[in-house]
Amino acid sequence: MAQANGNSEGIRTGVHQSLAHDSAHKHVSGEAIYIDDMPEPPGMLNVAFGMSDHPHARIRSMDLGRVRKAAGVAIVLTAADIPGRNDVAPVTEGDPVFVDKLVEFKGQCLFAVAAETMEQARRAARLARVEYTVLKPILTIDEAMAKQSFVGPSQVMKRGNARKAIGAARHRVAGHFEIGGQDHFYLEGQISLAVPGEDGDLTIYCSTQHPTEVQQAVSHVLGCDSNAITVEVRRMGGGFGGKETQGAQFAAAAALVARVTGRPAKARLDRDDDMIMTGKRHDFVVDYVVGVDDDGRIKGIEIELAARCGNSLELSAAICDRAMFHSDNCYYFPNVTITSHRCKTNTVSNTAFRGFGGAQGMLASEEILDEIARHVGTDPLQVRKVNFYGKSPRDVTPYHMTVEDNIIAKIVADVEKSSSYWRRRRTIDAFNATSPVLKKGIALNPVKFGISFTTSFLNQAGALIHVYTDGSVHLNHGGTEMGQGLFTKVAQVVAEEFQIDIDKIKITATSTGKVPNTSATAASSGADMNGAAARIAAQTIKSRLTAFAAGHFKVERNKVIFRDNRVHVGRRRMSFADLIQLAYLGRVSLSATGFYRTPKIHYDAAKARGRPFYYFAYGAAVSEVLIDTLTGEYKLLRADLLHDCGKSLNPAIDLGQVEGAFVQGMGWLTMEELHWNPDGGLATHAPSTYKIPVASDVPADFRVRLLESGRNKENVVHRSKAVGEPPLMLGISVFHAIKDAIAAVGEGQLSPGLNAPATPEEVLRAVDDLRHRLSLSAAEAAE
Ligand code: MTE
Ligand code: MOS
Repeated sequence: MAQANGNSEGIRTGVHQSLAHDSAHKHVSGEAIYIDDMPEPPGMLNVAFGMSDHPHARIRSMDLGRVRKAAGVAIVLTAADIPGRNDVAPVTEGDPVFVDKLVEFKGQCLFAVAAETMEQARRAARLARVEYTVLKPILTIDEAMAKQSFVGPSQVMKRGNARKAIGAARHRVAGHFEIGGQDHFYLEGQISLAVPGEDGDLTIYCSTQHPTEVQQAVSHVLGCDSNAITVEVRRMGGGFGGKETQGAQFAAAAALVARVTGRPAKARLDRDDDMIMTGKRHDFVVDYVVGVDDDGRIKGIEIELAARCGNSLELSAAICDRAMFHSDNCYYFPNVTITSHRCKTNTVSNTAFRGFGGAQGMLASEEILDEIARHVGTDPLQVRKVNFYGKSPRDVTPYHMTVEDNIIAKIVADVEKSSSYWRRRRTIDAFNATSPVLKKGIALNPVKFGISFTTSFLNQAGALIHVYTDGSVHLNHGGTEMGQGLFTKVAQVVAEEFQIDIDKIKITATSTGKVPNTSATAASSGADMNGAAARIAAQTIKSRLTAFAAGHFKVERNKVIFRDNRVHVGRRRMSFADLIQLAYLGRVSLSATGFYRTPKIHYDAAKARGRPFYYFAYGAAVSEVLIDTLTGEYKLLRADLLHDCGKSLNPAIDLGQVEGAFVQGMGWLTMEELHWNPDGGLATHAPSTYKIPVASDVPADFRVRLLESGRNKENVVHRSKAVGEPPLMLGISVFHAIKDAIAAVGEGQLSPGLNAPATPEEVLRAVDDLRHRLSLSAAEAAE
């Protein structure tokens, strides 16, 4: 095991060490306890949901008699049974627990039925007789734009005069393309177990990234104080943004059943219901016009982003904002107008998904840069480089934030060299020249991702540490564990602070009863914020111990040093546990809270100006693919990733995050396709119809590195950087490598119009379309 402090003894193990995820062995052996694995409390009821049959309709009547009479049914609950507020919307309103009048998407929840077994509840839920007055639905972004159907006002971010600059530029490139959504496909679906206590108290075990929001939603729905509700989560079987808000509705239903019946109640969605009833990544339509000079340098740019938000606002305002904040990616836009439309449709309300809109915004800019390159006839990498943010004045974003920590040129130069980009480019050109059916493509894409919640007040976190009299530590904080390794990282920070072995630190379930008023574990900031809060709590206890030891042994405070499981007090040395014993007898408080708020950030949404991000995380990827132009099939042959985690808290976990995020990003842009039937129903609601990447999609040649010299210029915990979301966007290089391979069909003369996801069908369509356009231009030339 690596040594922490150059000392022969060292602690096992502090920060910057590649420690295994605390639950890794339990994940693979099946011993990790998820909510559905918990022993079921006696008398527990199972909850299933009744769903609407239409995407847009008025409910005329709802006959639930047959549901109530079905075998094993204990109770059926509708909107009329809600004592408090029938809404679990995270920001404003519009997300009812149960619909009673107006249905706004197919699969929307009408009622809950609780029965002795899950099977009985599910069977009973299907027996409802609902009469509707069917209304015309708006299903697509295009329809919503045509009807000006929005969940909120459109937003504009601008600097300079884009229109004028485009008009004055040598070349004008305009385009339109589509970006698909994505289902989270967490392995553990949405689940909540509500257990009633006395005096109306409820404990809710919920698979959620946001225990505080679930607590608040439940108390609003039940019409009780928040202090009656305790929400606990030890771990999620994946969240990916899909459990930032989406668990609240099912938690509220379970809570309501428990409140009304006095019995514990579990609501667990099966895969189909989960995919139908919960929001996904927003799909986008992008339109742009850009004016460039001969080498592809951008003079002026207009980008219009239209997102399908679904039936309610939910988190869409912040998600669409983040799309705007990332539609510059690494590029300086001297004159720019970015417009964002938040389309209201009769589909499930879309929600957070790794990248939180930033991914879609970034793909827009990457696509635009790729198109510029194909227009001016230069390699896309070259065009990207001439447009990178640089020195003043080329260092200011469209939202007027200065990019202070720009290291993208360095990262790109590194991976360009280590991946032999230019040599492989020539090899690929030679291959394509002699291969009529199979074509290869390569792409290098950079990533710059802003870290912080753009809603500034959310950037706060708390922690709670107890040291017991034997010197063992109980660690709790507001962050949640979803597989990303947060609990391990925060424990490392505490181990480092106390200079004790990590196995002396007990990682405990997140609970609203221990740390209150938390933010979602989201925006990749879990370790930044909870790590800092836990560190502050540990420092508080440490300074009490230092003061006590100095007084007790009559030495100066600076002679009390914690190192390698020992405390040095002047010339004395004692174990950490021995000092704790003494401090206890000396009546020193051995428990502390820690609180952290991110500094420097501010943002004025009305003016679209400020510093919404504390800092940026960077990365770059080179992907090489092989496509079959007769079938549209493709294979990712090799990927080289270089990602900046600052001075990584845990390089092993961060590498895992980079690899996983890249594959998830690739899945989004290549194989995962959501399809809605004309009746508004989701056709792709099971793994049989929705294809996520599997082990064999990971490239055989996969070279993933963390930036070695990385160090956060800002004072983030131990100079690390957030890693959860940014590397997802490295997957964009797979999409652009596929596009590059298609372009080879026309020897680079015309640009393929490729929409995301680049499924084999879409690749084939793009190949055929390109061939068609080539024959047209050949015919024109012949005339
Ligand atoms: N990694 C795993 N294994 N499972 C997840 O659900 N969620 C991602 C990312 N990495 C996720 C994950 C998302 S969307 C975010 S915002 C971050 O983890 C949240 O955790 P962090 O802030 O601690 O990085
Ligand atoms: Mo992640 S989309 O911020 O939960």
